Amino acid sequence: MNSPTVLITGGASGIGLATAKLLLARGAHVAIADLKLADLKLADLNLNDETAALSSYEHVLLLCADLAQADEAERVVSETVKAFGSLTGVVNSAGLQRYGNAEQTSLALWHEVMNVNLTAAFLVARAALPHLRQAGGGSIVNVGSVQSHAAQRGAVAYVTSKHALLGLTRALAVDYAAERIRVNCVCPGTVDTPMFRWTMAQDPAPASVLRACEALHPVARIGQAEEIADVIAFLLSDAASFVTGAAIDVDGGLRALIGGAPQTR
Ligand SMILES: NC(=O)c1ccc[n+]([C@@H]2O[C@H](COP(=O)([O-])OP(=O)(O)OC[C@H]3O[C@@H](n4cnc5c(N)ncnc54)[C@H](O)[C@@H]3O)[C@@H](O)[C@H]2O)c1
Repeated sequence: MNSPTVLITGGASGIGLATAKLLLARGAHVAIADLKLADLKLADLNLNDETAALSSYEHVLLLCADLAQADEAERVVSETVKAFGSLTGVVNSAGLQRYGNAEQTSLALWHEVMNVNLTAAFLVARAALPHLRQAGGGSIVNVGSVQSHAAQRGAVAYVTSKHALLGLTRALAVDYAAERIRVNCVCPGTVDTPMFRWTMAQDPAPASVLRACEALHPVARIGQAEEIADVIAFLLSDAASFVTGAAIDVDGGLRALIGGAPQTR
């Protein structure tokens, strides 16, 4: 059997990067499409280590792309197919977090968030579908959030984008199930990635943000990117052959908790 060929948007950091590393280690061909590939090569020691590990694989393709630009989605898909000869999986992990309630959110900020978190996922999926069909089927995994189901205060654009991403997941799933193309959404709780570190840095007391997030999750900690990558890899694999249109919580029990319940420990 040919090895899987997977395009990962946002694959240069956090959840996307952890997924890329896991799939590469399992023998997949992986294309990483990201705005910040330069950081992947030149940044701090840890990222240099990542880069060294990645470049030691023959099966990785690095595509610098601003997926907020509509035509970039088609380009990254076609370049992936050109390099690998096929496409069997897509992970839409590119995303950004911006804060503000409705009155604090300009139209420009709204579009910035929607373009990356929602429209790019639609455009990448749309461009990938003919290739997944040609491969005899495939799997698309969208990285949603617990905020695909419920709202954090003061994040109207992000919350709306993640709810809509779950809607996109379900719409694609029902439209393409008969063609053996599965589409699912992973919904992480808080995960320790550069995005979360950025969120912490917006607060005058970053450590208190971390403590609050840890306390929010019944497992009393935040997640690691590798824990999300494991679930994404499952959804990409044939082990998930009967799973489509699903929203899979990977959130340390966060959504199982009744809000406001007192901590007993
Ligand atoms: N970290 C969390 O707590 C958390 C929780 C739930 C969901 N998520 C979601 O997981 C996904 C990955 O987030 P992460 O935490 O790994 O963040 P991250 O910031 O570490 O990675 C996101 C990647 O997306 C890329 N990206 C952003 N805009 C782009 C653009 N215009 N074109 C191409 N690439 C672009 C960034 O360069 C970055 O490499 C996001 O969709 C995020 O909303 C994160």
